[in-house]
Amino acid sequence: MALTRIHHIGIAVHDADKTAEVWRDTFGLETALDTELDSQGVRGVIFPLDNCEIELLQPTREDTGISKYLETNGEGFHHICFESTDVAGDLITAKESGIQMIDEEPRVGLTGMIGFLHPRANHGVLIEYAQPPDDAPQHTGPESGPGPHALHHMTVAVNEVAPVTESWTERYGLVGREPFSAEALGLEGQFLDIGPTAIELVRPMPGSGGPLPRKLDQSGEGMFMLALTVRDAAESVEHLRGEGWTVTDANAGAFISPKHTYGARLRLSEA
Ligand code: CO
Repeated sequence: MALTRIHHIGIAVHDADKTAEVWRDTFGLETALDTELDSQGVRGVIFPLDNCEIELLQPTREDTGISKYLETNGEGFHHICFESTDVAGDLITAKESGIQMIDEEPRVGLTGMIGFLHPRANHGVLIEYAQPPDDAPQHTGPESGPGPHALHHMTVAVNEVAPVTESWTERYGLVGREPFSAEALGLEGQFLDIGPTAIELVRPMPGSGGPLPRKLDQSGEGMFMLALTVRDAAESVEHLRGEGWTVTDANAGAFISPKHTYGARLRLSEA
């Protein structure tokens, strides 16, 4: 097992120029790459944070996976990419452990050599492995400003937490913290660490309402919310409200409606 961190979060969008207005103009992130992969029929735009990247994926043809994904699911979170130091070996290990694969061998992607595992094998989460080239530039997020500068964690909605923890700690080398329950929020869950980043598994408590049970009802298990770190949450909330955004101010953080971010549900909070 050679997975070291969450390398990036992939987000499917119809128009990367429009969505870039959020990440570049509103949040102040820099565009590190904007390129087309002809073989895949996809345009990728990458915005680095300190410990992770945001990857916008826009279809450039109609017969592609990403374009079918948008047709079925609409815009929003598309995949979690783990960085690997040996992508060929990790794909073999995954296949040998019985995981349903999309790619059994590495191919060229936006971030070096990559391969995908099937979302059916991972509670609705499409997982990518990527091995960046040795000379890949080390980017960082913005050094100041009200926008996010790092990934805090990626929240995944599941029906049961414990079996996913058991599976993902074994498969991907994630390290589980103590399970938690948050009565006030109507959910329970567990953080799984990987390097400087983490995945949070959550499930709604019986009878609770809100976007989490709605997501599970409507589209089943899968990526739910991206939590990003800001330097000063109050300043971020003020900045976004100044842009006309509806922001729920809670727990020294901001919950942002996906209507402002082309389908990506975000939480900004201080580290
Ligand atoms: Co990717």
